Amino acid sequence: MRTIDWVDGAVELVDQTALPGELIMQRITAVADLVAAIQSLAVRGAPALGVAGAFGVALAAREFAGDPEGLARAVRAVEVARPTAVNLARGARRAAARLGYGVEAVLAEACAVRDEEIAASAAMAVLGADLLQELCGERPRVLTHCNTGALAAVVGGTALAVVYELQRRGALAGVIASETRPLLQGARLTAWELAQAGIEFRVAVDSAGPFLLSRGEADAVILGADRICANGDVVNKVGTYAHALGARRAGVPFVVVAPESTVDMDTPDGAAVEIEDRGAAEVTPFSAAVNPAFDITPNDLVTAVVTDRRVVRLDRGEKL
Ligand code: MRU
Repeated sequence: MRTIDWVDGAVELVDQTALPGELIMQRITAVADLVAAIQSLAVRGAPALGVAGAFGVALAAREFAGDPEGLARAVRAVEVARPTAVNLARGARRAAARLGYGVEAVLAEACAVRDEEIAASAAMAVLGADLLQELCGERPRVLTHCNTGALAAVVGGTALAVVYELQRRGALAGVIASETRPLLQGARLTAWELAQAGIEFRVAVDSAGPFLLSRGEADAVILGADRICANGDVVNKVGTYAHALGARRAGVPFVVVAPESTVDMDTPDGAAVEIEDRGAAEVTPFSAAVNPAFDITPNDLVTAVVTDRRVVRLDRGEKL
């Protein structure tokens, strides 16, 4: 199943806010509704956001035909709906570059963004599984963070696609999924996807991850990214940095799996990235709160970046 697609003139997507209780498909025909779906995390995860951004521009081209100012406003609203994952603005801008050629051309470009993410997922699965077996032996046990499966990437996923590939090879010895606070993308979404795939797993609270690594409970940390900066700094779901520190201390690889569409050579380092703050309400109704959605893992803690085209060994001084 594709978790986001263009079907009969509308964007159809799995409403990730309803999982794991209900599997609901949302059918979206208006740009404002797509922006709302992005902001509420009904659709989320960097590659899926890139596809949503591109489809959003296709919706805008149709909705605002003959209204150039309205169209420009709608395209901008899609681009900036969330700030951190580079894929969203990138997907929207790719589709927007075709606006001069008509609605069908915009839609064709958006479908190309979708198809490229599907192909990237398959390629990353193989490159990542090969690398994990090289680094950790034939049957690795992995710890993963946030949700990097099909929900985040149309089909397959990024880091979770590697987990699926290891399972397909009969080479997966265990999965720990961190729950991922505050919105539980791990406990709600990764757990749901792994259960659907028939893969055994254990959920750990986020703060347990580094301790479990120190006890030798996993052979590698493997997760995705929302943006990989030119210097190799990795921007990903908050909690990633703590897992990178835990991996370094435990002496296990910390492997980041993300498509080339997430590698941003225009952003020099993590300090240059806007980290989304999702407000206090998601954390607690009772007191003030700070709620950064992402954090930055410095490049010196990253063993390797696996994309759909290459394995970049940052630990050996290789550059993006
Ligand atoms: O806030 P989210 O749920 O959109 O954050 C998603 C993540 O941080 C994922 O780890 C990242 O996008 C990689 S998805 C394949």
